[in-house]
Amino acid sequence: MTNGLSDTLVGWRRELHQNPEISGLEFQTTQKIRQWLSEADIAILPLALKTGVVAQIGQGDGPVCALRADIDALPIEEQSDRPFSSRNPGVMHACGHDIHTSVMLGAALLLKEREASLAGKVRILFQPAEEIFTGARQLIDAGALEGVSVIFGGHNAPDLPVGEFGTRSGPLHANVDRFEILVNGKGAHAARPEEGVDSIVLAAHIITALQTLPSRAFSALDSVVLSVTRITGGNTWNVLPQQVELEGTVRTHNTAVRALVPEKITRLIEHIAAGFGAHAELRWHAGPPVLVNSAEWADFTKDVAAAEGYRVHDLPPLMGGEDFAFYLHHLPGAFVNIGSASAFGLHHPRFDPSEALIAPAARYFARLAQETLHKLQA
Ligand code: NI
Repeated sequence: MTNGLSDTLVGWRRELHQNPEISGLEFQTTQKIRQWLSEADIAILPLALKTGVVAQIGQGDGPVCALRADIDALPIEEQSDRPFSSRNPGVMHACGHDIHTSVMLGAALLLKEREASLAGKVRILFQPAEEIFTGARQLIDAGALEGVSVIFGGHNAPDLPVGEFGTRSGPLHANVDRFEILVNGKGAHAARPEEGVDSIVLAAHIITALQTLPSRAFSALDSVVLSVTRITGGNTWNVLPQQVELEGTVRTHNTAVRALVPEKITRLIEHIAAGFGAHAELRWHAGPPVLVNSAEWADFTKDVAAAEGYRVHDLPPLMGGEDFAFYLHHLPGAFVNIGSASAFGLHHPRFDPSEALIAPAARYFARLAQETLHKLQA
């Protein structure tokens, strides 16, 4: 069975990889997942979802444990030269969600074989739109967590070799917030700047001052990262533009620290702008919260991983975001990393994870779900 399972899952992974779809538009992907589950006689829950699938294995009124895979791809042009590389120009599974989907399909097949002996039910969430941080909330709103006691999810980790496993209890992924700053000066002829208010020079002062927030306004132990990632303004060489737009992101792990950031940015930019006789405005877009693994379940994921033969590590907190965090605000569980040994990292056009992780990870998640149900019943 093992070789057969591996071949099936790698085949599905390649089919998904060749046909990637961006966040919220995973229609064919959803269709394929439904088809593969149906062919294995696995029940699909009738939830109102535009894209994404929720399957369930097991009967009776025992506890319910959930496993989650994400299914969306990224707007990236693939540069790997694999025979199964993307056929969809400008779209690529550059984060390995095709791998995650095939892993959880494999777990579903294995759990289906053991259905009669399950001490409850396993719900498997094939979640859309992870990359834009809206998919988890869509599934929650559709009722995907109803009756669920514990949830697990995982991501491939290109910097870890295949066979290695990492997680931690407590904060793992960061709070992710996006900001825009509108810097409004007064347009003028470039030769007569005294007649206007130079929004470009003002924007430069604001960018420099923003970098003092992590280092001067917060403790070094607060781990605040602030990056300005876009600056847009002006369209020719001899005109000072009226407006400059800045965009960027702030990452934190502490909820109280996160809450202080917008007012500190606002105070800084308003006063710098006022000093120039201009105006600056902050627009704040809150993203996913910090992903906090329950200590009990993070430890449990590690015990099961060690029993499955993984080399288990404790990870440091990461500054990236993951919308699995929304599930963990509703119920306990844990998110884990599994080595995928890619020379190029996540979201890189040459990202190329090892397929050798797929079948072992499928066996791992099946066993994790099965043992979680026993633990919940005990
Ligand atoms: Ni991802």
